[in-house]
Amino acid sequence: MAIGSVPLSGAPAMPLLGFGTWQLRGRAAYEAVREALEAGYRHLDTATMYGNEAEVGRALRDSGVPREEVFLTTKIPAERAGRERATLDASRAALGVDAVDLWLIHWPPRRGRSVPMWRALLAERDAGRARAVGVSNYSIDEIDELIAATDETPAVNQIRWGPRLYDPKVVAGHRERGVVVEGYSPFKTTNLHDPVLARIASAHGVDPARVVLRWHVQHEIVVIPKSSTPERIVTNCRIDGFQLTGEEMQAVDSLAGRH
Ligand SMILES: NC(=O)c1ccc[n+]([C@@H]2O[C@H](COP(=O)([O-])OP(=O)(O)OC[C@H]3O[C@@H](n4cnc5c(N)ncnc54)[C@H](OP(=O)(O)O)[C@@H]3O)[C@@H](O)[C@H]2O)c1
Repeated sequence: MAIGSVPLSGAPAMPLLGFGTWQLRGRAAYEAVREALEAGYRHLDTATMYGNEAEVGRALRDSGVPREEVFLTTKIPAERAGRERATLDASRAALGVDAVDLWLIHWPPRRGRSVPMWRALLAERDAGRARAVGVSNYSIDEIDELIAATDETPAVNQIRWGPRLYDPKVVAGHRERGVVVEGYSPFKTTNLHDPVLARIASAHGVDPARVVLRWHVQHEIVVIPKSSTPERIVTNCRIDGFQLTGEEMQAVDSLAGRH
């Protein structure tokens, strides 16, 4: 029932559960990341755009958790096309690390710019400043454009995901290409009061949020919940003590498309 991780070629394994940090700034970001590391998360998700890399890095150093035990993702905004090296150098300096574990193009740049940007990310990976590189908010067609041009597949695509957005064809499309699916906004995309989630949660003595997280993990989809509430930071991390049955997994799958 361990939470587990997914292998990434040339990089440390990526824990299936990570801690999201969007909208956490300043002291709140620092404190939340300290709480998360204390609670047991070993995977942190940030981005140039979040404006909190310095706080994330400081929290990691102050936590005493060895750097190599924590999987660190950051992202470059599409608008920084042409300034990739400088952007990664700024991220590494703010985070206080020699290399990030995963560096993503935050969203597809405008037409014609995606392939050159991808080549620049690959060059940084080859230089050892990012252990793996990938994309976010890309469609399968946009991923195929990168593969066709470079013969290099993004390690990860970070996309909006949750039970309502569940689509086995999207998962299969990524898996056929060897791209790990990482879901974001697991709670914002979910009605946590849904009776299906409530029933399953009560059967396991947990809250609906944990059912949603456990559902991701059992589908081997990486999930990065955010919370600024100390109690939720802890409970969201406690998803290793129960397992959803096949029927329960299907019941959550069937929330797809519901509004
Ligand atoms: N690549 C992209 O374009 C992209 C876009 C969006 C997000 N992301 C990443 O994905 C992460 C997660 O997504 P997100 O921040 O949009 O949303 P989320 O994790 O789905 O939801 C966060 C919200 O859920 C609440 N929450 C947390 N735990 C809860 C619980 N146990 N029960 C009920 N409510 C709970 C939080 O409240 P409190 O904070 O008050 O506890 C917060 O309001 C981000 O932080 C970011 O790292 C990436």
